[in-house]
Amino acid sequence: MISLIRRRLLVAAVALPAMPVFAQTRPLTCGKLTGEQTEGPFFKTNTPRRISFVEPQSKAPRLIVTGQVLSARCQPVANALLDFWHADENGEYDNRGFRYRGHQFTDAEGRYRLQTNVPAEYPGRARHIHVKVQAPGKRILTTQLYFRDEPGNLRDGIYRPELEMRMAGRGAGEGTFDFVVET
Ligand SMILES: [Fe+2]
Repeated sequence: MISLIRRRLLVAAVALPAMPVFAQTRPLTCGKLTGEQTEGPFFKTNTPRRISFVEPQSKAPRLIVTGQVLSARCQPVANALLDFWHADENGEYDNRGFRYRGHQFTDAEGRYRLQTNVPAEYPGRARHIHVKVQAPGKRILTTQLYFRDEPGNLRDGIYRPELEMRMAGRGAGEGTFDFVVET
């Protein structure tokens, strides 16, 4: 973790010698592998490759999830696979088609970006997004992302606070999460 901060500060110092160097405000999550979570009963293979699940007819608010895939040594993982799936605005999964399902690959900086509609809660579960993340040719991480300040979080035995997205502003809208995977 420290080495990445040092490296970034060094890069900033080299690139902008006359500017003050600020400490990175975004907390780094690498160092420890992202926790595993159950896949649940609704995973499907052969999802479409796409970065937007947005359904124009949906009344659910829009959500953007962004972040990086990192190695335990804090290196960005390019071309990592992310396969997301989540419930619709009624708390139901599309088990016939591919609504709210899809995969994408990280860019050269290990970044990903998903646009979608906020999933509804369904009985027994906190609001969540399922995802599988895999560095090229490595072990698949299966996990789930959670929303901040959801009453359902504390009623859900599967929920883990370390899997909460950092949300910009109040409620849903824009969330970020960095995954740390085996490489
Ligand atoms: Fe689920």
